[in-house]
Amino acid sequence: MTTHIFDQLASIGVVPVIAVDDAKDALPLADALLEGGLPVAEITFRTDAAAETIATIAAERPDMLVGAGTVLSPDQVDEAVKAGAKFSLSPGIDADVLKHAKTKDMPFAPGIMTPSDLQLALKLDCSMVKFFPAMPAGGPKMLKAIAAPYAHTGVGFNPTGGVTLDNLSDWLSMPQVRAVGGTWIASKADISAGNWSHVTENARQAVARV
Ligand code: 3PG
Repeated sequence: MTTHIFDQLASIGVVPVIAVDDAKDALPLADALLEGGLPVAEITFRTDAAAETIATIAAERPDMLVGAGTVLSPDQVDEAVKAGAKFSLSPGIDADVLKHAKTKDMPFAPGIMTPSDLQLALKLDCSMVKFFPAMPAGGPKMLKAIAAPYAHTGVGFNPTGGVTLDNLSDWLSMPQVRAVGGTWIASKADISAGNWSHVTENARQAVARV
């Protein structure tokens, strides 16, 4: 199951990382992304509206691959499962959270920034990890160096943090990178202004570079 969901993310190539303040924006947001050809959203648990937003999208837009981001505790894993999230991610790695996600069959990509983080992720059976914060940590060159000794494990990477339309192709040209992520596609400013056509345009431009 885990492989299947992450394969779907890999075939899409870009995951919008989104903080939603008001769950009433859930459907216009999902529709704007769908219209731009991007049937995926990582809704982060950085706002109180996250669970309701995920639940609304999961129930009303079944074609959308909706996941939970910034999942920091076993309780938030439970909230993500209950809301209908199809995958979860976090900026860092926490063994308790990963073990709990496994008992719930929740595909989980933890964040890593060092070889030691990556080895912990592999020990905990992760097939995909976030590389965070991707650009400040050293960009594609850094990830290439970190990933090299682990190529035989088949682990895939989702770089986020400083990824933009301009550097997206540099990341996706690396075979280990399954999909990039970032907040630029559906920014807080566009969501709060209801600027859905801009979200659609950003999605379209990103998809065109995959
Ligand atoms: C994340 O959690 O993936 C990051 O906040 C995304 O970083 P960005 O704002 O630089 O895209």
